[in-house]
Amino acid sequence: MHIESGVGLRTYNTFGLPAVAHTLVRIESDADVRGVLDHPTLGPAPKFVLGGGSNIILTRDMPQVVLKVEVKGLRLVEERADAWIVEAGAGESWHDVVMWTLAQGYPGLENLALIPGTVGASPVQNIGAYGVELQDRFESLDAVDLRTGVTSTLNTRQCEFGYRDSVFKQSLAGRVVITRVRLRMPRPWRPVLGYLELERKLAELRLTEPQAQPSAQQITDWVIAIRRAKLPDPARIGNAGSFFKNPVVTPEQCRDIIGRDPEIVHYPMPDGSVKLAAGWMIDACGWKGKTVGQAGVYEKQALVLVNRGEAIGSEVMTLARAIQESVYGRFGIRLETEPVIV
Ligand code: EPU
Repeated sequence: MHIESGVGLRTYNTFGLPAVAHTLVRIESDADVRGVLDHPTLGPAPKFVLGGGSNIILTRDMPQVVLKVEVKGLRLVEERADAWIVEAGAGESWHDVVMWTLAQGYPGLENLALIPGTVGASPVQNIGAYGVELQDRFESLDAVDLRTGVTSTLNTRQCEFGYRDSVFKQSLAGRVVITRVRLRMPRPWRPVLGYLELERKLAELRLTEPQAQPSAQQITDWVIAIRRAKLPDPARIGNAGSFFKNPVVTPEQCRDIIGRDPEIVHYPMPDGSVKLAAGWMIDACGWKGKTVGQAGVYEKQALVLVNRGEAIGSEVMTLARAIQESVYGRFGIRLETEPVIV
């Protein structure tokens, strides 16, 4: 086990925020986690689990032992009549896994292409895009308990998935290291196209080929094109994806807001509640393209905060709070942050 000290984390978080980990250990296996737990000084110390750093905002240096998850591996573990089951190490890049499954002929993850981050982080926030959430393609995962060192397998129910939420953000927060995730691609494959922008792409295709059924590869290409058009590439502009969750309100609250702002983008949910587009609300408050210090609101998607160069975590949080206040002032809605604030 290799223990590193005083490690700069700027390149380990997609927002590119500066912070120093006092101690960092790279985790390549379940045994590595147990090695840390058995270590005389690291064992009893507080720990912080770091994946691809695509969903965290670092506001300070980290006195905890940072466990950087680098577990590799990618294979088909089961081929059933109703599904392909693929197992991926938590340290694999999510997008690389999506592209590998498609290339191998196990479609199903195409709507989730180009989401930054690692496989191990995907269940934590139940990543989702264009009508598909991780929970719809999830089979099970392995996680090592940070007190006992015991590896357990958790199924969908045990992960308690919700909208950008799971047990790993709630009762198991900071208590386990996810080491492997198994994904379930249902057979036969069916495209998920309900999302407005995908429907537009389908309509364009059918202008030239009226009977055309899109392939998984076409949907992948569309999703990649849509994301590239409105979301910043973290390799070029630091960001952590959507900075706030889309708030879910009661139909009465929604009617009240529509009464004042008839244009508000909103989606009825299966349980009768209504999801409001936070990006629209932030945009309506005039934030798009604004900057505070080195932290800014992305020009093409107001739900995404970006690093204009040398941002520090406190500037990002000052901007986030100012946005929350103005949205509250105009709509009476408190926006919740989506990434984990450290
Ligand atoms: N909108 C505006 N102005 C803006 C931004 C959005 O008017 O500046 C409007 C759009 O025109 C659209 C609506 O708001 O009518 C929703 O926007 P969009 O389709 O871009 O989706 P979103 O609700 O803002 C969510 C996810 C994204 C995911 C997309 C596509 C959350 C918090 N975000 O964004 O996920 O890619 O849907 O499914 O649920 C992420 O979580 O990091 C993320 C990028």
